[in-house]
Amino acid sequence: MGSLKTTIGKLEFTNPSILASGIMDETGLSMARVLDSGAGAVVSKSIGTKANLGHVNPCFLEVTSGYINSMGLPNPGIDAYKKEMEMAIIKGKVIGSIYGASAQEFVELAGKMEDFGACAIELNLSCPHAKGYGIEVGTDPKIVKDIVVAVKSSIKIPVWAKLTPNTHILSDIGRAVENGGGDAVVAINTLKAMVIEPEFAKPVLSNKIGGLSGNAIKPVGVRAVYDLRESISIPIIGTGGISNYRDALEYIMAGASAFQIGSAIFNDGPEIFRKICGGISKFMKRYGYDSIESMVGIAHE
Ligand code: DHB
Repeated sequence: MGSLKTTIGKLEFTNPSILASGIMDETGLSMARVLDSGAGAVVSKSIGTKANLGHVNPCFLEVTSGYINSMGLPNPGIDAYKKEMEMAIIKGKVIGSIYGASAQEFVELAGKMEDFGACAIELNLSCPHAKGYGIEVGTDPKIVKDIVVAVKSSIKIPVWAKLTPNTHILSDIGRAVENGGGDAVVAINTLKAMVIEPEFAKPVLSNKIGGLSGNAIKPVGVRAVYDLRESISIPIIGTGGISNYRDALEYIMAGASAFQIGSAIFNDGPEIFRKICGGISKFMKRYGYDSIESMVGIAHE
């Protein structure tokens, strides 16, 4: 059977499945459980400089083929997250997701995540609704490059940038990450979305706008990865609506060297990592692929 090993720059993963930020990653124990369930790595919750309660309810909705959430980046703050990181890294690779309003904040957070044992940093440049954060910094190529340059020069571990699909200049943003020295891009984060309750004539979410995830966004994500593959040469990690091995293969063939799983965990639990990897292994055997690398980007050929 072909190996499921994959590499992202200098990092090697036993398999290409990674837990996406925001699900089962509030605590070290939950991240450890996902690593025990077969994930090649986990991404932490997005962490900021200070504790943040997030938005009041309702902040999470199920919709047709997906979910809309506007959690409001709830997190205990970087210093309190140290113990969660330390508990998780006993079990495997943890990528530290961070959000900030300025390059200096990202630098401070990245340095601490590196000290806590993260194997890489994922810059959240893509939360769809947080004032002053996320897409407000992540859709301007100059700001993106400045943040990547600043973080790269301050730490030794690789820097990944998680990009938003809520832009018509995705390729420019990808190039900004590459030109800034970024080690990989992660595509895509959630799509800006809203649900209105006709009886109340009002948006349902307390924040009105949230981010759509789940099956509904998979074709958007696959297209985004395909576009990025044509514009940049650094590795791509694909994410958005993956719930079975065929979804994962679409991302890999579009150009992703690894993929992240989030929403599907609500239905299938963390066992989904082993299930998807098993499906990929069987597919590789049946169709004669001997490595993940041999499938990355082949839809372009
Ligand atoms: C939140 C953060 C995200 O990056 C996202 O895509 C959706 C929601 C949040 O914490 O609200």
